[in-house]
Amino acid sequence: MAKTCAIVLAAGEGKRMKSKKPKAMACVLFKPMIDWVLDAVEKSGVTDTCVVVGHLGEEIDVHIDGRSEICYQNERLGTGHAVMQAVAFLNNTDAENVLVLNGDAPFMDSTTIEDSLGLHMAMNSGVTVISAKLGNPIGYGRIVRDAGGNFQRIVEQRDATEQEKLINEVNSGAYWFNKKCLLYALTQIKQENDAHEYYLTDTIEEIKKIGWPVCVHMTDNTDVVLGANDRTQLMELNEIARKQVILNHLVNGVDIPCADGVIIGTDVVIGPETTLLPNTIIRGRSEIGTACEIGPNCLIDDSKVGDNVKLRNTEVEQSQVMNGTDIGPFSHVRPNSYIAQNVHIGNFVEVKNSQIGEGTKLPHLSYIGDSDVGKGVNFGCGSLTVNYDGKNKTRTTVKDGAFIGCNANLIAPVTIGEYAYIAAGSTITNNVEQCALSIARSRQVDKPGWVLEKKPYKNMP
Ligand code: UD1
Ligand code: CA
Repeated sequence: MAKTCAIVLAAGEGKRMKSKKPKAMACVLFKPMIDWVLDAVEKSGVTDTCVVVGHLGEEIDVHIDGRSEICYQNERLGTGHAVMQAVAFLNNTDAENVLVLNGDAPFMDSTTIEDSLGLHMAMNSGVTVISAKLGNPIGYGRIVRDAGGNFQRIVEQRDATEQEKLINEVNSGAYWFNKKCLLYALTQIKQENDAHEYYLTDTIEEIKKIGWPVCVHMTDNTDVVLGANDRTQLMELNEIARKQVILNHLVNGVDIPCADGVIIGTDVVIGPETTLLPNTIIRGRSEIGTACEIGPNCLIDDSKVGDNVKLRNTEVEQSQVMNGTDIGPFSHVRPNSYIAQNVHIGNFVEVKNSQIGEGTKLPHLSYIGDSDVGKGVNFGCGSLTVNYDGKNKTRTTVKDGAFIGCNANLIAPVTIGEYAYIAAGSTITNNVEQCALSIARSRQVDKPGWVLEKKPYKNMP
């Protein structure tokens, strides 16, 4: 196969998004649209890519982080002008064919890219336009064909006649160009249209004029043309992607009895026989094992969850939860935590930057921060670690089998030995040796008859 390269147009401002971000950074299923496009390009095997940025281009540049080349379009004079900014990139690559894509059309897929390249090569085409037939073509450039069905040209919505506006086959904004044809045609196009822009679509006429074939690859996957110019369209794209991802998981054996509020990122892996209940959001590079029950109301971000795990009304961020553990309702596992197998974390518990050993129990109202907790430890209700002294954060160690009584405070840095027994209500500041009992609270004092003598109540019979 001849060598290929790609140019992604992402200089658009996206005024109608009313966002402080460049349009290509708007997210579909938590992933910026530019990443969807670059993923499809990479998946199709095109390795040499240049993204044209303009409005807030530095932000895209930082985000892309060397994944592709970047060039800047400082004045936005249209899609043709955007491609002109990549002429140096084109001159530097030995690719013969150039894929041009819109950075705001996230559903362009590798199959469409590969199939259209197949046609482009077979026809030895100067340019191959990717098109699709839409129920509602308003806003898109239309594919004008002659009576015999042969492709004539593309006309933009604002330049189209009433007759042309009836055409429902539209330009996706994605094309394969023969590089030489593209470089030549870019020198010929002018700003002669209603928008006074350099239209990339005008290159087609120039390529035709020099005698090269021009083709259209019409795809059945109409989603590939969909773009987001405003938040309504962005929500529509999210909904399309959300349903598609859920369908894929259902096919793989994930059980989703009701998909209300279930949002799963594109890079998430879920094992069969796991059940997802409403309002569960799983995103980032999360992996969920088999036979888990996740939800209702869970948020899992960039985390690894083992098999047979139960999470209810729980958030897990950048952490690992191993097989057989159950968490919730209303608990929060914060970044950099490792919850081993068969741990029980109940209600209103927060774990942060900590290791929790196998079989340990944190049933109610605990905070475990910056701690290394062993196996089979029991934290009584309200017991917690005190990891912050106002200046520094320090670690707490609790060894295997220790018992931490209700409402105990473990003031870090401190180590509780194996099987040590901490009395309820203790505030522990010194290390406790293994198998010791530690009581750190004042002794109870009772004064019989004190109430009758002092009469502290307003009304008492
Ligand atoms: C373009 C096509 C239209 C097609 C539609 C598909 C032209 C003239 N029209 O129209 O036929 O149906 O895409 O979505 O090409 N951009 C730049 N620099 C610019 C202008 C645009 O980088 O100066 C980028 C935008 O960020 C966007 C893409 O090019 O990612 C398309 O631009 P947009 O203005 O949205 O083009 P459309 O009017 O939608
Ligand atoms: Ca557009």
